[in-house]
Amino acid sequence: MRHFLNTADWSRAELQALIDDARAMKGAPFGDALKDKTIALLFFNNSLRTRTSFDVGIRQLGGHAVVLSPTGGMWPLEFREGSVMDGEAEEHVKEAAKVLSRYCDMIGVRAFPKFQNWEEDRKDAMLTAFARHADVPVINMETITHPCQELAHVMALQEQFELEGRAGLGGKKFVLTWTYHPKPLNTAVANSALMIAAKFGMKPTLLCPTKDYILDERYMDQARKDARANGFDVEVTHDIEEAYKGAEVVYCKSWGALPYFGNWEPEKKIRDGFKHFIVDEAKMSLTDSALVSHCLPMRRNVKMTDAVFDSPACIAYEEAENRLHVQKAIMKAVAR
Ligand code: CP
Repeated sequence: MRHFLNTADWSRAELQALIDDARAMKGAPFGDALKDKTIALLFFNNSLRTRTSFDVGIRQLGGHAVVLSPTGGMWPLEFREGSVMDGEAEEHVKEAAKVLSRYCDMIGVRAFPKFQNWEEDRKDAMLTAFARHADVPVINMETITHPCQELAHVMALQEQFELEGRAGLGGKKFVLTWTYHPKPLNTAVANSALMIAAKFGMKPTLLCPTKDYILDERYMDQARKDARANGFDVEVTHDIEEAYKGAEVVYCKSWGALPYFGNWEPEKKIRDGFKHFIVDEAKMSLTDSALVSHCLPMRRNVKMTDAVFDSPACIAYEEAENRLHVQKAIMKAVAR
């Protein structure tokens, strides 16, 4: 039995095989790979794309989805080992995982950090508890990484660069830029974007306002390791012009600074000073005809201007569509 929790656990060749299968299914969406299979999709947080694309993808492959949410009827869950359950949680993840394994063939989990204490949140406790206790494969639908989004992004880049006659990701400068958002957001997509860029041979640059916005060492180290294996390093810069110059991919995302988890007032004052990190035409003109994307949902004219988002350079809709295809490939790969 194999879970899909993090792309770090899968080789580049294995991930490329998933993307290749996804591309094949993009042309021929229907099949019976999940015939008579039931997949539980647990959403501890909101979703538009993930919920819809998993549900649709499961149906296209002949399976059935059961969507569960603590705000939609499911019991609130405890995930800590040995905890005295005298708070809100009515059920432990041990029982939930075991019972769902008796009914279902696979379990998808979306569980964002609680934004109170990064040392706790970085344990990814809900996902790892499900993976430990379930008797069926578990898929990460976004916790503190977002591996499905990573694959959808790489697939969109490969497709678009091929169309433009610029095939091959190797050696292309990939800029992950922090952008402003009025609230502190999850670092999951940023962690994932940096790791997948490095794994697929791109030259990753992390552009962020201050050193407080550098990502967790676990993901920085994974990206460095993969980048070095491909002959590069991960550049970290706070200089917008330097970052954008020569970029062939710009990926934008907002996230909260890890040292301020649970103490967001002072972080807001810093964040408010960096609204100029918005992705706009002037910045994009510094690039080497870069493709640009965002995982969505995205606040227009806060993170990216309309002019950039609605331009041919933006592949966000392709990436969003590709969620459907890569997730089908992932479910096929881990189904037993
Ligand atoms: N990108 C993404 O995961 O979208 P949702 O949060 O809408 O699922």
